[in-house]
Amino acid sequence: MSRRDQVARDLGLGPTWRLRAAPQAETPALPAPAHDAARAHTIGLMDWPALLDEIGNCQACDLCQARKQAVPGVGDTSADWLFVGEGPGAEEDERGEPFVGQAGKLLDAMLAAIDLRRGDNVYIANAVKCRPPNNRTPEANETAACWPFLQRQIELIQPKVIVALGRPAAQTLLQAEVRISAARGRLFDYQGTPVVVTYHPAYLLRNLAEKAKAWEDLCFMRRAMGDRH
Ligand code: URA
Repeated sequence: MSRRDQVARDLGLGPTWRLRAAPQAETPALPAPAHDAARAHTIGLMDWPALLDEIGNCQACDLCQARKQAVPGVGDTSADWLFVGEGPGAEEDERGEPFVGQAGKLLDAMLAAIDLRRGDNVYIANAVKCRPPNNRTPEANETAACWPFLQRQIELIQPKVIVALGRPAAQTLLQAEVRISAARGRLFDYQGTPVVVTYHPAYLLRNLAEKAKAWEDLCFMRRAMGDRH
C-alpha cells in the first residue's frame, strides 16, 4: 500500500477514487460584486511586506474591532498549492496562523494524504483575515472587503492550483453562488489558475460520512495538478 493510501486509510478515507478523463475548466456565471476600486488598485500593487502590513492594520470592515490580530496566511510564498479557508477561529486569532485548531489538524491530514505538508510548496490563507465573532460565517461585505488581499496573495504566489475549502472560500474565489455538493469534482478558473472546491475540514469533522467525498476531491485535485506539470 502506498503512503498516500495508508494515510487515507488512517483517516477513514477511501477507497481511492480516480477520474478517467482530464477535468475541464468552467467559468463562473455570476458577476463580481462591486468593491472599492481605488483601494483594490493600491493593494494590487503591493509587495509582501506592504501587503502584510496593510492586512495587519486593516479597518475596512467591522471584523477589525474584535480581532486580537489579523491572520494573513502561512506557508511557501511561491507554492504550487494554495488552500483557502473561511476565516480565523479563536486559536488562529490568538496565534496569528490559519488552521491551527481541530480543523487545522484535519487539514494537515488531508494534505498528507496527497503527499503535501504545510509550508512546503503549500500556502494556506483564508477568505477573511480577521476572526468573525463567535466563528459565524463571514458576511458578504466582509469577504468583499478582504477580497483584494486574497487577490494580491494569488498574484504574488502564482499557485498552479487553488483549493477552496468550503462555501465562503469558493464563493469568494469564484465570485458566484456556489453549492459545494454541486461544485466539487469540477474544475473552475480564476484568471487562468484552476480552482477546485471541496468541503471545509470543520464541516467534515461534523459530518464524518462526507470524508469519503473529501478523499475523492483530494484525488481530483492531485489529478488536476498532475495535468499542470
Ligand atoms: N477555519 C478556517 O476556515 N480557517 C482557519 O484558519 C481556521 C478554521
